[in-house]
Amino acid sequence: MTKNRIQFNAFDMSCIMHQSPGLWSHPQDQSVRYKDLDYWVDLAKLLEAGKFDGLFIADVLGVYDTYQGSAAASIRSAMQIPVHNPLLQVTAMAAATKKLGFGITVSSTYEQPYSLARTFGTLDHLTKGRIAWNIVTSYLDGAARNLGMQRQMSHDERYELAEELVDVCYQLWEGSWEEDAVIEDRENQIYADPEKVHEIGHKGKYFSVPGVYLSEPSPQRTPVIWQAGTSGIGRAFAARHAEAVFTVAPTPVILRRYVDDIRAVAAEAGRDPRSLKIFTEITIVTAATDEEAQAKYADYLSYYDYEGALAFYAGITGIDLSQLDPHQPLEYVDTDSARFALEIFSKADPDRTWTPDEVAKYVGIGAMGPVLVGSPETVSDELERWIDEADIDGFNLAYAITPGTFEDFIEFIVPELQDRGRYWKDYDESTTVRERLYGVGQKRVRDDHPAAKYRRQLEQKRADRETVESFVV
Ligand SMILES: Cc1cc2nc3c(=O)[nH]c(=O)nc-3n(C[C@H](O)[C@H](O)[C@H](O)COP(=O)(O)O)c2cc1C
Repeated sequence: MTKNRIQFNAFDMSCIMHQSPGLWSHPQDQSVRYKDLDYWVDLAKLLEAGKFDGLFIADVLGVYDTYQGSAAASIRSAMQIPVHNPLLQVTAMAAATKKLGFGITVSSTYEQPYSLARTFGTLDHLTKGRIAWNIVTSYLDGAARNLGMQRQMSHDERYELAEELVDVCYQLWEGSWEEDAVIEDRENQIYADPEKVHEIGHKGKYFSVPGVYLSEPSPQRTPVIWQAGTSGIGRAFAARHAEAVFTVAPTPVILRRYVDDIRAVAAEAGRDPRSLKIFTEITIVTAATDEEAQAKYADYLSYYDYEGALAFYAGITGIDLSQLDPHQPLEYVDTDSARFALEIFSKADPDRTWTPDEVAKYVGIGAMGPVLVGSPETVSDELERWIDEADIDGFNLAYAITPGTFEDFIEFIVPELQDRGRYWKDYDESTTVRERLYGVGQKRVRDDHPAAKYRRQLEQKRADRETVESFVV
């Protein structure tokens, strides 16, 4: 059997401390440069030289302030605060590269679809189709309180809102401008034909958008949709909308349960289950030999920040472990935060119990994702095992230190995976992110994706108009 190419994205965030609490203080870490555009441009060029599929940028809109009931630990440890808007560096990175894709996280909970659709449409034009939207529903109550709400909407209502928001975006991207609406006729001074630009007329529970889309059709129209729902309602959402799913799990066996389930739910929703490309978060610490890699890992661990790790866990789960005995086993409880994190450390693996102390150590490097430590052979064996056992398509690589972790990946792992036929020698002809997932030529959403409904409706409107016009003639 021929083995597929494994896809890799670098996983980052517009902040200092992304997934490895404390490691920003390592002498080789450059994450404090996150506020320089050069830092991002250099990173994009490095990733493209290493033939990464893309750069994936996480985001949060609030401060992790659950730990000890205060933001102090997060602020002290730069735990995703300060954090910048992740969209703003994309155009500079796109200008410096030709092939690298960009997956950007924007919460669906605090946006208006009319303006959000234009933001992604603009980026799709300016990157020539290299943009993807990672839809998250948010989990920090502080975000809600600072964005004009009394408290965060309930977990399930955030998904209900997301459902309507993405639907309105699809209508704007796919259902407003006909393919040949733009004429650019200089002689007659007609840029676009108003007959071919339609109002979407949306009136729903959360949004009212009567008008036309503000941009014009871009290479992908709908950006590639990423999503990472883990709860029942989250999986249903991902199964309906996600073209790429971002997951995290401590072992391939645990991940496989999720993968099988989400593909089954996608099939029930009328989608080809294999059209959901599934990526999991992983951190790699590598060097020429296993011993050198272990020494590097030990060095990194000596910089890990216990308090920062628990502040992160508390923010994601809503559970403040500072109140518990560090060696007390955790039990599953429901909170209004992100369930994936709760499940990882409680019921996901029935053979394993976790204590607060163990959680902090696990989160210390690579946060919720596993860490692979070893030589190129050791790590590549593990990567292939994850791909095969979990039935996934690729990885989002978090870093222990940046850009060092990505440089090590390119130096040590890429050649090994290339020798195994698992990593491409060069980019192919694809220019858009969607073609990366589905092959050259597939720039627009597939027919079985919910956004395609509005493409069909637009085609119908056009057919109806042409019928009327033929009668008039
Ligand atoms: C791998 C992974 C990465 C995520 N990244 C973010 C992020 O950057 N920002 C965010 O607000 N939520 C993030 N989330 C949270 C989810 O997208 C989702 O909103 C949250 O988990 C609540 O849904 P759930 O209970 O269905 O998992 C992430 C979740 C996963 C599994």
